[in-house]
Order: sequence, then structure tokens, then C-alpha cells
Amino acid sequence: MRTQVAVIGAGPAGLLLSQLLHLQGIDSVILERRDRDYVEHRVRAGVLEHGTVETLREAGVGNRLDSEGLRHEGTELRFARAAHRIDFAELTGRTITVYGQQEVVKDLIAARLDAGGDLRFEVTAVALHDLDTDRPRVTFDHQGEPGALEADFVIGADGFHGVSRRQVPGLRVYERAYPFSWLGILSEAPPSSQELIYARHANGFALHSMRSPTVTRMYLQVPLSEDIAAWPDERIWSELHTRLATDDGFALTEGPLLDKGITPMRSFVATPMQHGRLLLAGDAAHIVPPTGAKGMNLAIADVRLLSHALAGYYTERREDLLADYTDFALKRVWRATHFSWWMTTMLHTDPHDDAFSEQLALAQLDYVTTSRAMSTSLAENYTGLPYERGWSYR
Ligand code: FAD
Ligand code: DHB
Repeated sequence: MRTQVAVIGAGPAGLLLSQLLHLQGIDSVILERRDRDYVEHRVRAGVLEHGTVETLREAGVGNRLDSEGLRHEGTELRFARAAHRIDFAELTGRTITVYGQQEVVKDLIAARLDAGGDLRFEVTAVALHDLDTDRPRVTFDHQGEPGALEADFVIGADGFHGVSRRQVPGLRVYERAYPFSWLGILSEAPPSSQELIYARHANGFALHSMRSPTVTRMYLQVPLSEDIAAWPDERIWSELHTRLATDDGFALTEGPLLDKGITPMRSFVATPMQHGRLLLAGDAAHIVPPTGAKGMNLAIADVRLLSHALAGYYTERREDLLADYTDFALKRVWRATHFSWWMTTMLHTDPHDDAFSEQLALAQLDYVTTSRAMSTSLAENYTGLPYERGWSYR
């Protein structure tokens, strides 16, 4: 079997790349370890940057996103029992859209299959070969049969636990583990606020988000190795009420829980993001703590670069766009890594920190919510930085 681009992983990165390549007449095959139902129902990210929305529209998957996505012009920071709004639209002219990652994945899978794309689920034993030649190969098992795929390029879009990253020799890793996790819930309850609420409280961070006018998504900071059994539904609600309370009587609407899970928080950046004909994209190369809502948006930004670089190769035999992929991708990745670290430390209580750190975080929140310069900084990072090659902050 032969294709132009072999893609490992059907998360947002792999699916979107395959779709963008298809629109430029470039063939690809996607190999995914899980079944279709699993990847379509994995509850994860929910915030799409301004440019992510535009990219998905350009990829031809904007219809449901435009009709069901919730466009938000701002967000709220809550601390010391008071609410403070950051107005993205006024400060940056940009907005964000709340639309579940699994909906993006469903739309992309449907678009790939409608266009006759080759997308294989439940593929195991994926192994990469001959990456430093111009005929790399992928071997795998599918439906009990061994398979082999020869390609011009292999894209490692197989997430943090995938196999691709390990094929890059001399990989350098930068890492930070945060001393807490997030407990995430999905509830059949109408959102209690029009916009997202990021709350700092002495008991820890809480986030109020949503998926639709009838479904709320919320997160609580919990200890690092917390067992989900320690959090029966009543305890979750009680803690959400406590951490989100305001002096002007904020009311949180409860509902039955549809999903519940714990995710540890870490930062991880691997470089280089390529070796020979292997290129990494998304969580395979980097992860951020979710406080800045950047993970899926970074995966999509990587894929925009890759789609452009591969199109340059196939139309004009340009190698330069591929050669500097790591440098361009990492500029954005490090900015987002800093932003996510900054949001995380400002909004969480660190069990190892003292009262001094607590006062610093509160002083920073006060500054961010009252200074136009600081609010603008948060707003431009949150709604997403430009994509142009060589962009600067001016
Ligand atoms: P993935 O989505 O992980 O996809 C990789 C795919 O590869 C998977 O389908 C996997 O099954 C497959 N795979 C793995 N190994 C193999 C193999 N050996 N062979 C074949 N296939 C393989 N990001 C945001 O931008 N905003 C948010 O609000 C946000 N919130 C989050 C909340 C939570 C609770 C979590 C866990 C994450 C959140 N993220 C958020 C991060 C976001 O979900 C990820 O950054 C995003 O999924 C990255 O996409 P990806 O395609 O790179 O990787
Ligand atoms: C959601 C997740 C995030 O990590 C975040 O910062 C905001 C919203 C969400 O799942 O809705």
C-alpha cells in the first residue's frame, strides 16, 4: 500500500491535516488505534481560538460549528468573592468559540469519509521504519492482518502517549509537572453564566464552562494523585458552590452528571519536532496545562504550518518550509506554554506555597483585571496569536 502522507492518530491534529491535504490534492491515510465511537466521545477541550475557527471553516467543517458553537466576546476572572470581566472583543477585536473537541472530531471524520478518505480505526502495533530515507514505511496490524504503508512523509499526530516521538534521535525534553490535577465534569444543567468563569479560591481553582444551552462543563483543582472515588457527586457540587460563590449571590444550577474524570497537569515540550521524513504535530510533541485552553489550538496551529509546508513540497519541491517547521511551531508553543503556566500559577493554590505566594497571585489578579495593558495581554493570548510566518508582537 502506498500514499503520499501517512498520518498516525485520528485526533484533531491528524484528522485536520488529512482534510487540509485532501483540499490541496494530496493523498493521505490515517491509522488510529482506538475505535470510531471512542474517539468521537472522548470529552476534552472546548475553547476554540479565533483562528482555529477560521481554519476549521477553511477546511470545510464550519457548518455545524457556526450553527451550534457558542461565540463568546469575553470571559470572567473571579477571586475574593467578586467577578471581573475581560472583554476580548473590545480589547483585541477577536472572540473565542465554545464547541466540544469531540464535535470537531466528529465533523472531521464525517468530512474525511464523505470525501472517500482512507481512515482506519483499531489499528495496533504501529511501527515506523526508514524515516531518514525518502521512502519511509509504517507497519501495523488491522483486523487481525499485518499491513504495511509506504509514504513520502509520516506525520506523528498520535498524542502524548503515542509511538512517534520516540523515533526522534537526540530529542530534548523540557518538562514541568504541576502539583495538582483537574477533576472535570459534564452536567445536564443549563450554564449558570453566559461566559466562562475562571475562579481562584483558598480551596483551589474552579472553572465554569459549557457545551450548549443545556449542558455545563466544569472543573475543580484536586490533589495530584486523587482517586475519583473520593469525589461523590454531592462533594463535587458542594465544592463548586463554595469556590464559585460571590458576595452578590451567584447561583450555580445543578444537574445530573454525564461524565466525570481526573487529568494531571503538566507542561511538556519536545524538540526537534521532526526527524528525516517524520514530522510531529500536537500533543505528540507538546502539552500544556489546560488553564489557558491552548492544547487543541496548538495542535491545529501545527497542522496549518505542516499543511502549508507539504503543499510547498508537492507543488514546487520546496524543502525550506519543511526544514524550519520546528522553529516556527516552537515559537508559538513556547508562548502558549508561558501563558498556560502564568494562568495556572495565578489561579491555582499550590500545596507547597506559602502565604507570600497567595498574596502575589491576588496582586496579579487585581492588576490583570484593572489594567488595560494586562487585560489586553491576557485577551490576545487567550483569543490566539496570528499565524503568519515571522509574526511579531508589534
Ligand atoms: P490527541 O487528541 O491525543 O489524538 C491522538 C490520537 O492518536 C488519539 O486518537 C490516539 O488514540 C491516537 N494514538 C495514540 N497512539 C497511537 C498509536 N500508537 N497508533 C495509532 N494511533 C495512536 N485544549 C484546548 O485547546 N482547549 C481546552 O479547553 C482544553 N481542555 C482540555 C481538557 C482536558 C480534560 C484535557 C485532557 C485536554 C484538554 N485540552 C484542551 C487539550 C486537548 O484535548 C489536546 O491538546 C488535543 O487533544 C491534542 O490533539 P492531538 O490530535 O494532538 O492529540
Ligand atoms: C474548557 C477547558 C479548558 O481547559 C479551559 O481553559 C476552558 C474551557 C472546556 O472544556 O470547556
